[in-house]
Amino acid sequence: MKKIAIAMLFAGSTLLMADGAAAFAKCAGCHGQNGEKAALGKSAIIAGQDAAKTVEQLQGYKAGTLNQHGMGGVMKGQVASLDDAAMKEVADHIATLGK
Ligand code: HEC
Repeated sequence: MKKIAIAMLFAGSTLLMADGAAAFAKCAGCHGQNGEKAALGKSAIIAGQDAAKTVEQLQGYKAGTLNQHGMGGVMKGQVASLDDAAMKEVADHIATLGK
């Protein structure tokens, strides 16, 4: 029984990670497969960035209140369809990148 419970735990966490990774696939074109690029030569490198900070930034872009490098409008379009849970998942994934 114990073994089964542990196996289920692992399956569950892999699934969560996969969600964040899948969501990040559409970000990778600009930010790099591992978040290692300055998107469009402008953004900060986001790999390994603290998840809470990322969520805050994504909410700012969605609300249209964040524009750090003159390209907030580009990010507003990217995050328009993400709800809070999806933002948290992708932010958790970004926090694991480059480590
Ligand atoms: C079309 C290219 C493009 C795509 C796709 C894209 N981004 Fe960005 N991202 C940018 C640019 C440009 C900026 C800088 C915006 C600004 O001026 O504040 C940025 C900024 C950011 C920042 C803040 C970095 C900083 O400079 O502090 C985060 C976090 C971020 N993006 C996450 C994401 C996530 C998550 C996705 C996928 C859902 C994504 N981006 C998709 C181009 C892109």
